[in-house]
Amino acid sequence: MASIAIIGTGYVGLTTGACFSHLGHDVICADIDEDKVRRLQAGEIPIVEKGLDRLVDEGLRSGKLRFVLGAANASKDAEFHYLCVPTPQGDDGAADLSYLEAAAAEIASVLPDNSVVVNKSTVPVGSTRVVARVLGRSDVAVVSNPEFLREGTAVADFLQPDRVVIGSRDQEAAIRVAALYSRIAAPIMVTDPVSAETIKYASNAFLASKLSFVNAIATLCEAVGADVNDVVLGMGYDSRIGREFLRPGPGWGGSCFPKDTRALAKIAEDAGYEFHFLNEVLRVNHDQFTRTAQKLIDSVPAHLSDAHIAVLGLTFKAGTDDLRDSPSIEVLQRVVDAGLTVKAYDPAVLVDDNRLFEIYPDLKIEVVSDPYAASEGAASLAILTEWDEFTWLDFDKLAEIMKGRNIVDARNLLDPTIPRRRGFNYRGVGR
Ligand code: UGA
Repeated sequence: MASIAIIGTGYVGLTTGACFSHLGHDVICADIDEDKVRRLQAGEIPIVEKGLDRLVDEGLRSGKLRFVLGAANASKDAEFHYLCVPTPQGDDGAADLSYLEAAAAEIASVLPDNSVVVNKSTVPVGSTRVVARVLGRSDVAVVSNPEFLREGTAVADFLQPDRVVIGSRDQEAAIRVAALYSRIAAPIMVTDPVSAETIKYASNAFLASKLSFVNAIATLCEAVGADVNDVVLGMGYDSRIGREFLRPGPGWGGSCFPKDTRALAKIAEDAGYEFHFLNEVLRVNHDQFTRTAQKLIDSVPAHLSDAHIAVLGLTFKAGTDDLRDSPSIEVLQRVVDAGLTVKAYDPAVLVDDNRLFEIYPDLKIEVVSDPYAASEGAASLAILTEWDEFTWLDFDKLAEIMKGRNIVDARNLLDPTIPRRRGFNYRGVGR
C-alpha cells in the first residue's frame, strides 16, 4: 500500500483522502486552515456528504488517515502528492492558479526523491506543465488525474467510478498512479496530461450542454403543449442518449458547471477558437433562471401583491448543503429585484446559518425553519430544489394557511394531480 499526501481538504481532497485510506493506503491530508484541521482531527466533517463521516472515522481509528497543518508537513514522507486546492474563477473567466502554484512551491523542496505529484483540482489545460515548472524537480513526475465526483454522492462516485483517467508523459508514473486504484473495478484510461485535463472540462461542459438542451426542450414543450417528462423518458430509452441528466429544472448551477463551462470557453478563446456553442449553452441557462423567476413573479395574483412567496429549496441541488452558484438563489435574486418578498426553507440551511448571507450579502430573503412557516400567509409556493421531503407536503394544511393557491414546481418534483385535487393551480417545467 502507498503513502499519499493530500493537499487541500475541500470536497475533492477530503473525499479523495478518506476513500484512499478506505482502500488501505496511508493518507495524510493537509490544509492551511488551522481550525478546520483541528476539527477534522476530531472527526468533525465540515460538509454534508453521504458516507464520508463513516470513512473519516474508520481512517482516524485505524491510523490510516491523518490531518496536519501545512502542505510540507504532509508531503515530506509521502510517495504520492495529490493537489486538491481550489481553482476559483478569475475576473476574465479563466481559472485562477495561484493556490495551485503556492501549494506546488511549498512542497517542492520537501518531496522525497522520485515521488509523483498528481493534479486532482480542475485545472486549465496545460497546468500539469505549470506545476512541473514550479516544482523544478526533474526526478518528480507530474500527472493529471481529474475527479468526476458529484457532491452528495462523492464517496460512491470515487469508489465505484465510471472510469479513472490518468494523464502522464511518464509511463512508469502512470502505472504507479493506476496501482493506487487496484482495488477499484473500473476502466483505467491512460493518456497525455493535456488530453486528461481536456476530458475533465469536456465532460462537465457536455453535461451542462445536455441540461441546457433539456431545459430548452422543456420551454418548447410548454409552447407546443407536450409533457417534457414523457419526452425525456422517450428520449432516454435510446442508449445513445441515455437516461441520466435529463431532468429539467430552474437552470443548472453549483461550484463546478458554471465555472468549468466558462473556463472551457475561455481556454478555447485563448487557443484561437471561438466556442460559440458553449456561450449559447451558458446563455440558455441564464434565460432559464429568468424564465423560472418570471413564473414565480406571475404566480402572485394582483390582489395578493402584498403577500410573500414561500420558497422551498436554496441549495444548488438536493443532498448537499452547498449554496455556491445555486440556481435557486439566481432565481430569487430576480424575484426580489422585481419587488416581491420571499420566505424560504431548506433542510440543509439553518435559520441562523450565516453562510447564505456571507456568499450573497445583498440577498433580501427571510429563512425559516420549516415549509409551513414559509407558507403561512403566502401568495404562492415554489419548489426550487428537489429535496425528497417536499414530495410529502400536506396540501390540506397548505390550503388552510396560504392566502393564494399557486404552486410553481421548478423541478417537476410533485405529482400535479395531488395539489390540483386540493384546489391548487400547479405549474411545473415543460408540462
Ligand atoms: C458535477 C459533475 O456531475 C461531476 O461529475 C464533477 O466531478 C463535478 O461537477 C466537479 O467538477 O467537481 P456537481 O457539481 O456535484 O457535479 O453537481 P451535479 O450533480 O452534476 O449537478 C449540477 C447541476 O445540474 C445542479 O444544479 C443540478 O440540480 C443540475 N441538474 C443535474 C439538473 O438540473 N438536472 C439533472 O438531470 C441533473
